[in-house]
Amino acid sequence: MRVGYVQFAPEFGEVERNLERVAELISPDQGDLWVLPELFATGYQFASAQELAEPVPEGPTTARLIALAHEKSCHIAAGLAEKADGHVYNAAVLVGPSGLVARYRKVHLFYKEKHLFAPGDLPFAVADIGKAKVGLLVCYDHLFPEAARALALQGADLIAHPANLVMPGLAQLTMRVRAMENRVFTVTANRIGSEARTGEMLRFTGLSQIVAPNGDVLAHAPPDAEDVRVIEIDPAQARDKHLTQLNDLFADRRPDFYRRLLG
Ligand code: ACM
Repeated sequence: MRVGYVQFAPEFGEVERNLERVAELISPDQGDLWVLPELFATGYQFASAQELAEPVPEGPTTARLIALAHEKSCHIAAGLAEKADGHVYNAAVLVGPSGLVARYRKVHLFYKEKHLFAPGDLPFAVADIGKAKVGLLVCYDHLFPEAARALALQGADLIAHPANLVMPGLAQLTMRVRAMENRVFTVTANRIGSEARTGEMLRFTGLSQIVAPNGDVLAHAPPDAEDVRVIEIDPAQARDKHLTQLNDLFADRRPDFYRRLLG
């Protein structure tokens, strides 16, 4: 199975242009699953929550992603601002050639996102796309081991992780750990560039990466340039949870003990 990330610099508010840039960037390569950044079509720094948010799957961004998945016979995981029931969510979709396959609304909101978005209210989503089972996280979710674990316990072989990271090096480390502790592949697609729409300069830190279930980094991007990588992986590697002959990481879990401590 071929999986890839797209790292680029979305231009704020230029939804059509950003969608076209993604189409251009993935067109030379054949991937089975592409991961795009968080809020890839709109940009990140909203002044108001309603600005540029769209219904899913009816909105133009999801529709264009589905058309692209159809054209390229692939699946695409991507972050977008979703408008639903009077709320706006920092959401992610997984689409394939015939439509929406899974949706997720970011559960852990980062910094001023708390002023803009409603916290996610949907369960952590895993979908079978044929060649692999794929789970969705968005950016700051990477710091919550429970989120990746919830996906892995539902059978995810791969975690697609659209991101707009601003703290260099942090998620690159945690997502290696999330991969190792769950024996899953992870694909983090981060953006580059900067935004200063609301009086605060945010610099996005690139360094997108693909990690194997043993924690090896299979592909990684530079911090400050567009980058598209697609590599071959074997999702079956994520179905063997053994660390040693006597240690299956999932069979060795002791949930009764965790429940006594964790809320
Ligand atoms: C983030 O969650 N966008 C850092």
